[in-house]
Amino acid sequence: MDAALLSASALEREIRSLSAEIESLRRPAGGTSETSRLDQLRDENARLKYRINVLKRSLQEAPPPSRAMTNINQRLQDVFGVAIRAACPELDHPPLSVTPNQQAKFGDYQCNSAMALAQVLRLRGVKVNPREIAEKIVQNLPDNELIQKTEIAGPGFINVHLKRTFVSKLLSSLLINGVQPPPLTSRKKVVVDFSSPNIAKEMHVGHLRSTIIGDSMCRLFEFLGHDVLRLNHVGDWGTQFGMLLAHLQDKFPNYLNESPPIGDLQAFYKESKKRFDEDEDFKRRAYQCVVRLQSRDPDFIRGWNLICDVSRSEFQKVYDCLDVSIVERGESFYQDLMVDVVQELEDKGLLQEDEGRRLLFVPGQSVPLTVVKSDGGFTYDTSDLAALRQRLRDERADVIIYVVDSGQGTHFSVVFAAAQMIGWYDPQVTRVEHAGFGVVLGEDKKKFKTRSGDTVRLRDLLDEGLRRSMDKLKEKERDKVLTPAQLAQAQRSVAFGCIKYADLSHNRINDYVFSFDKMLDDRGNTAAYLLYAFTRIRSIARLADLDEAALRTAAETCEVQLEHEKEWKLGKCILRFPEILHKILDDLLLHTLCDFLYELATTFTEFYDSCYCVEKDRQTGAVVKVNLWRLLLCEATAAVMAKGFDILGIKPVSRM
Ligand code: ARG
Repeated sequence: MDAALLSASALEREIRSLSAEIESLRRPAGGTSETSRLDQLRDENARLKYRINVLKRSLQEAPPPSRAMTNINQRLQDVFGVAIRAACPELDHPPLSVTPNQQAKFGDYQCNSAMALAQVLRLRGVKVNPREIAEKIVQNLPDNELIQKTEIAGPGFINVHLKRTFVSKLLSSLLINGVQPPPLTSRKKVVVDFSSPNIAKEMHVGHLRSTIIGDSMCRLFEFLGHDVLRLNHVGDWGTQFGMLLAHLQDKFPNYLNESPPIGDLQAFYKESKKRFDEDEDFKRRAYQCVVRLQSRDPDFIRGWNLICDVSRSEFQKVYDCLDVSIVERGESFYQDLMVDVVQELEDKGLLQEDEGRRLLFVPGQSVPLTVVKSDGGFTYDTSDLAALRQRLRDERADVIIYVVDSGQGTHFSVVFAAAQMIGWYDPQVTRVEHAGFGVVLGEDKKKFKTRSGDTVRLRDLLDEGLRRSMDKLKEKERDKVLTPAQLAQAQRSVAFGCIKYADLSHNRINDYVFSFDKMLDDRGNTAAYLLYAFTRIRSIARLADLDEAALRTAAETCEVQLEHEKEWKLGKCILRFPEILHKILDDLLLHTLCDFLYELATTFTEFYDSCYCVEKDRQTGAVVKVNLWRLLLCEATAAVMAKGFDILGIKPVSRM
C-alpha cells in the first residue's frame, strides 16, 4: 500500500511537470514538430491522470479480504494520506502522522498532521489555522471501512474512533486464519551477521547478547516472509592461530595421526599465549605457522581444524540450549576474497602506504582501514570488507545487519563508508546496518564478572539459570502438581526464556544489568510473568472443554462482541501486533515487542477481572454459562502472544 501511495504522489508530480511543459509549448507560435510534441504530451498527461485516478480509487476501496493481518495504523495512514493530499494539493510531501491513542477518551487513533501542515504552509507565507486544516482533512476523508467517526480537538488533533464491526471482523479473521504476517510487497534477501564468537577463546556475555538479539531479528524477518541467511562470522583466521598451532606441534607432535585431548581449550590458549609473549624463538615459529596456514598447508589445516572442532562443539552447546540455528562462515572463508579485494583497491589506486602497511582512507571518517599489515597479513578490516562485498555480490543481499556490540561502531561505519566510496552499494537501494548493543553489567553495575573476577563462562551461566528456575518452580510447589517431564520442560522454558527476555526487553542500545533475581521474578515485565499469564489464558478455554480447534470452528459463526469497555480495549490491543512488527522492521528495536506483549497481558488481566468468560455454580462448581465470544477474545490474545514468543525465541509450555 505504501508503494501505491508513493507512486500516486510521484505521478502527481510528473503530471504537474508535464502540464508545465505543455503550457510552455503552447505559448510560442510553434512549428509542426512542436505541435506533435504537444499532442504527445497531452496523450501522456491523459494517460497519467487516468493512472492516478486508478491508484486513488484503489486506496479508497478496502483492501481485498486476505488471510493476512491488517496493519490498522498503516491503513489509517493510507486513508489520511489521501485526505491530506486533497486538502493541501500544493504540497509535494505533506507531513503525515497517525498514532494509536493511549487514552481511550480521545478515541482510538489520532492524526496530528494539521499542526505540522500549518507550520509548513506558514513557511511558504500562507497563514492558516491548524484547526481549519484539520476540518479540511476530515472533509476530504475518502469512504472507508474502518473509521466510525472523527473529532477535532485542541489546536487541531483529529481523534479517530474505529468501527466496532471492523475490529470484530479482524478478530474473527485472526481466529480463523491464525496469526498471519501482513502482505509482503517484495521478498528480500536478508543477511544477519550475529553471535560470531572467536575460536579458542571463551564465548562471552557479549556474544550471548548478539546471539539472542540476532536470532530474534532473524525470526522476525522469517515470519514476515523474507529469505534470511543467518551467518556466524567466527574469528577463525587471526594471528592467534600461529601460536596455537606452534604450541600444538610441541605438545602433541603426533596430532596428525591421533586426535589430541584438548578438553580445555582456554587453558591451551593461555599456555600458548604465555609462550608467545615470553619466548622470542616460539614467537618467530608462530608467525611462520600463520603463513603456512594461510597458504593452506594440509598439515596446518589439519591442526587448525582440530582446534576449530573443539571450539565449535562448545559453541554448539550454547546454541542447543537457546535453540538457535546459524550457519558458520568464519573469517577463513574470505581468504581468497581478501586477496581479490586488495587487488581491486590497488587497481583503483585507493591504498596508501604507511610504514609498510597498506591503508584505505575514507573521506569523512576519522580512522583509516588497515587493509594489509606490514608483514603482508590481512586484518579484521580486510575480512569485513571482503565479507561485505561477498554478501552484496554473491548473496545478492538487499538487507545486511550486523548484530555486534556498540564498541565496534566506528569499525562498521568506516567499513560501510568505504564500501559506498568504492561503489559496492548504494544505501538508497541496499540497507546495510550495524545493530549495536550495550555491554552486559553485573548487579554491581560493573563489567559482568564472576566473584573471583574471571569472565563468566556462558555454559556456567546457562546452568545457573536452570538451577535457579528449578528453585523457583519448587518454591511455588509446582513439583507437586507437574509430572517430572512437565517439570523439566517448564524448567528449561523458564530458564532460557527469562535469559532471552531480559536481554530483549531492554533497549539494545543501552548497557544492561544481568540479574537472575529480576528476570525470574513473576511480577512485572519478565518472561516468567508472561509465561504464567499465557498458560493461564490457555487454561480458561479448557474450563469450558474447548480446545484451539473447537475455538477456531466457533469463530466462524460466533461474532466477537465488543460492547464492554474492557472487551473493546483488549480487541484493539490484540490487533496492534502488525504495526508493532512494522515498527521493529524499521528500527530493529525488539524491546517494543516485549513492551507490547506485556501491555497485552495486563490489558487481558483487566478484561478478565471485569468480564466473566465461564460462569460457574458457586456450590457445585459446575459450568452454568459459557460466554463464547469472550473465550474467543482469550484465544485471540493467546494466539498473538504465542506468535510474539515465537519471534522472541521463547517457548511457552502448556502447563507450568
Ligand atoms: N568475532 C568478533 C568479536 O568477537 C565479532 C564479529 C562480528 N562480525 C563481523 N562481521 N565483524 O568481536
